Amino acid sequence: MHKTITGFSKLSKSEKIDWIVDTYFSNNDNAEIILKQYWNSDDKIQQLHDEFIENTITNYYLPFGIAPNFLINGQTYTIPMTIEESSVVAAASKAAKFWFDRGGFQTKVISSTKIGQVHFTYDGNTEDLTSFFNVVKPKFYEDTSSITKSMEKRGGGILDIELKNKTEDLENYYQLHATFDTVDAMGANFINSCLEQFATTLKANAEPSLSGNINIIMSILSNYVPNCLVRAEVSCKVEDLTENPNISPEAFAEKFIQAVNIAEIEPYRAVTHNKGIMNGIDAVVLATGNDFRAVEAGVHAYASRNGTYSSLTHAEVKDGIFKFWMEIPLALGTVGGLTSLHPLVKLALEMLGKPSAKELMQIVAVAGLAQNFAALRSLTTTGIQEGHMKMHLMNILNQFEATPEEKETLVSHFKTNAVTHSSVLENINKLRANN
Ligand code: MEV
Repeated sequence: MHKTITGFSKLSKSEKIDWIVDTYFSNNDNAEIILKQYWNSDDKIQQLHDEFIENTITNYYLPFGIAPNFLINGQTYTIPMTIEESSVVAAASKAAKFWFDRGGFQTKVISSTKIGQVHFTYDGNTEDLTSFFNVVKPKFYEDTSSITKSMEKRGGGILDIELKNKTEDLENYYQLHATFDTVDAMGANFINSCLEQFATTLKANAEPSLSGNINIIMSILSNYVPNCLVRAEVSCKVEDLTENPNISPEAFAEKFIQAVNIAEIEPYRAVTHNKGIMNGIDAVVLATGNDFRAVEAGVHAYASRNGTYSSLTHAEVKDGIFKFWMEIPLALGTVGGLTSLHPLVKLALEMLGKPSAKELMQIVAVAGLAQNFAALRSLTTTGIQEGHMKMHLMNILNQFEATPEEKETLVSHFKTNAVTHSSVLENINKLRANN
């Protein structure tokens, strides 16, 4: 059992490191060195990172890659991607190039409304509550005017506030269900501030006129955003669909659509299928400083909206045209939060031409669709492992601390040999024995 500590957050960074090293790494001389190796040499950048979260002792790097040649609504983009998994950026780049030559991606934002709720209980008469709500409704807007002022200037604000009766599902349970337009902000802080004020206003005005008691349970935005929806699509003539000599375009289209059909009806496959989409989506969401947990939660809820978890993408052939598309909910921001703080995030957004939140929704959706196209193309033709293991080779070589010369020899060897963990190890050992 390790000792517990009180007042840890009050310690300085170096005292925190001393404590963790003494407590967990008494037999590991490298622990402190590793922690400090990841500090940024620029004190200002390090301080910025220290202050993003609490109890920071070091930084955790992820690779920041770029996928060029994306044509979206006639405009070319290079998409920044932050991800640890090999093959993802290569797959995105390949799919981008493939569709660049076939008219590119077409996208549009279908809707951009976000939702927040005040959850409360009320043990009186529902009609009473409804008339009270109608009387007090303008006060919700009045009391939040200092919060909504600058959002309204930017064209957003509170769209509507409804009273929802949920007592059939849970005794005495009601909601204030509010919709918001947060323009270029992801909007979590704005929405939560409005909601907490609604709760205060509701409670403050309630007691005298009502037959029951209002008890506020909580006020929080919803990460389920089915009305913050973006569509991305590619299409081309079936005959242009593949340059692969081992499969005809018609056979490829048929297999590809069948793969999508399977993901539409089979949850075990749908989860992996959608995971591949999220490889692209999360990587851009992270690179642009957005909240990937919120996006993940919302997207998977949307994938289950009809009662069974299902594919986010769809495909068809009609009149000789192959079409592949996706509609997904994405709550993103291009102002506020990390977007104006993190130097790499700022650079990523600049690379994308300083997009509005709506433009970013379209770019992110394209990264997801491209990723799914690339995955399904490999899966239904060569299989995923061939390309994957080649990319994985470098990770294995690094794991065994291969020298640049060893890497060169082994990359060349594995151009024509199957990559497995044990075969790489065997070949490194052979090389080392001969030197
Ligand atoms: C791997 O990260 C993602 C895939 O499994 C996606 C898929 O199976 O469609 C290749």
